[in-house]
Amino acid sequence: MIVALLNQKGGVGKTTLALNLAGEWAARGKRVTLIDADPQGSALDWSQQRSREGLPRLFGVVGLARDTLHREAPELARDVDHIVIDGPPRVAGLMRSALLAADLVLIPVQPSPLDGWASAEMLALLSEALIYRPELAARFVLNRCGARTVLARETLADHDPPVLTTTIGQRIAFAVAAQSGRLASELDDDTPATREIAALAAEIEHLEIGRAAS
Ligand SMILES: Nc1ncnc2c1ncn2[C@@H]1O[C@H](COP(=O)(O)OP(=O)(O)OP(=O)(O)O)[C@@H](O)[C@H]1O
Ligand SMILES: [Mg+2]
Repeated sequence: MIVALLNQKGGVGKTTLALNLAGEWAARGKRVTLIDADPQGSALDWSQQRSREGLPRLFGVVGLARDTLHREAPELARDVDHIVIDGPPRVAGLMRSALLAADLVLIPVQPSPLDGWASAEMLALLSEALIYRPELAARFVLNRCGARTVLARETLADHDPPVLTTTIGQRIAFAVAAQSGRLASELDDDTPATREIAALAAEIEHLEIGRAAS
């Protein structure tokens, strides 16, 4: 399965969720490659930091911030169980290419009643991609949910794209781990952050979508 984390809003958790999801699948014995499709190269930086710290490789990280991503991703996908694409903020060409490559688009959003969850441009690009690829699946994933965030089930059910049941809280472990090239699960494998990522990975696999879903 090719999963792309996309949202033109910056700092919503694309890289954090991409790395931790890839790590979770790798820990479960899946072969995973993470494509860094962000010219900022945050996932590549993480990977470099990881090797500086002398930590073992968990999954491959490939820099591919090019509009030809959709032509190269299927070949990369042939050798692995899952490809996770860490998308860029604000680069429409790259976003389009990632939408053409993906089986599933995950849109991380911080639930806030004050602003739209994804930019109008992001949703327009998604609608455009769905014309060519009606089989493309898309889901919102709520990230950095505060303890007091009240999420009424009925409200969530109304959203298009739908919202995943698993939500990720505001967890300092993600930021602390990332600084040393680690995943939250490598700091402590029994924390809310780790449990939420495991639940997210499981929920995505149960969606049973994608060409190479296993
Ligand atoms: N659930 C969370 N709890 C706490 N901190 C988080 C969480 N998710 C992300 N962060 C922190 O928020 C910051 C932005 O996250 P991240 O880099 O993953 O966002 P992004 O969408 O990839 O940003 P960009 O658009 O710049 O690529 C990082 O410092 C990260 O550690
Ligand atoms: Mg990022």
